[in-house]
Amino acid sequence: MRKFHSASALIGATKPEIPVIGVRPHAAARAARWFMQNFPGDVAYAYKANSSVFLLGALYGAGIRHFDVASVPEIEDAATIPDATLHFMHPVKSRTAIRRAFSEYGVRSYALDSEDELRKILEETGNCRELTLWVRVAVAPKNSKIPLDRKYGIAGARAARLLVKARQACKELGITFHVGSQTATPDAYISALDEVGKLIVKAGVVLDRLDVGGGFPSIYVDEAPAPLSAFMAAISEAVERLPIGERCRLMCEPGRALVAEAESLIVRVDARRGNELFVNDGSYGTLFDAAHLGFDFPVRLVGRPVDAAEALVDFSFWGPTCDTIDYMKGPFRLPGSIKEGDYIEVGNTGAYGRALASRFNGYGAFEEAILDDEPMLTMYAAQAEAEREDERAQA
Ligand SMILES: Cc1ncc(COP(=O)(O)O)c(C=O)c1O
Repeated sequence: MRKFHSASALIGATKPEIPVIGVRPHAAARAARWFMQNFPGDVAYAYKANSSVFLLGALYGAGIRHFDVASVPEIEDAATIPDATLHFMHPVKSRTAIRRAFSEYGVRSYALDSEDELRKILEETGNCRELTLWVRVAVAPKNSKIPLDRKYGIAGARAARLLVKARQACKELGITFHVGSQTATPDAYISALDEVGKLIVKAGVVLDRLDVGGGFPSIYVDEAPAPLSAFMAAISEAVERLPIGERCRLMCEPGRALVAEAESLIVRVDARRGNELFVNDGSYGTLFDAAHLGFDFPVRLVGRPVDAAEALVDFSFWGPTCDTIDYMKGPFRLPGSIKEGDYIEVGNTGAYGRALASRFNGYGAFEEAILDDEPMLTMYAAQAEAEREDERAQA
């Protein structure tokens, strides 16, 4: 894959016809190092967020060995990673998926949120006694951009009953939850863990594993999430209050926080109509989240010099397909002189961007290139500075 210093250098050299994903593996590696150093347990990467080999390689290089997988195709992929431990954390799996995960890929770690799913797992694994079973509990989202509580998770007396039944069936019993993706403040984890504490007491079970899920925020234009260190402090404090022993092993499953900043999308302006720009990727492509969930990705004009004094103007984007919902309201603040043929770098699209892209209308294909420069916005500025300091000291 070609490598450039920046999106501007790439545009100067290639003038690409289709969108380009600019991959910054160093940013994923830095995020992974931060989590490995600051989370008091296993860090499992949520594979669904982005399965680019360049990012997976960077995460692996930083020490990530646990992966949260949601389907057999993800397992097939992730199983090729040396020494990987796979956790099949989808609470509703087909019998075939359980059977194949267990017998073909040696997966021993499964999430569930119902007695039916427990029965399925036990039947399809031949009542294997070596399993780690994670009961997914429903927790209330707080300040989350994508709440997940309506679909999965069990609570109250039913959850306590399921914990007791799972305890009898497995080697290691865990609880897992997800506070919702892009959770801006740590209080969601505190109340989730307090609920977990009540549930453990109600069920009277000994817990071997506790997974606080994903949901850790990345950074976009309109949001100032709490620093990740505040999330770690809140989780550690709340875990201290839980009725669990010292041997209970913690895990987290970040997707977004590990890869969002590690990719940009570079699009071309194919037409300008007033303050609307027609660009060559959109809601059916890598910019799904900008269209459907209102994610406010950072943008900049790249590939030609811009007068620093030029005023920025609010633009909205139309994507390339014929569909009216292929629209991204923004506002995206760009130089007023922007015109057809210009290129825009849309930053921090690494989480769920390429993973969601479809080929509707024949669009959605992209090229890729490695970029050396820094992400447009970062949650890891202090880590980057500390690492630069270390490099200077060693030089
Ligand atoms: C079970 C599970 N774990 C982890 C994640 C990753 O979440 P995030 O990208 O918000 O960290 C998801 C996302 O949907 C999920 O469903």
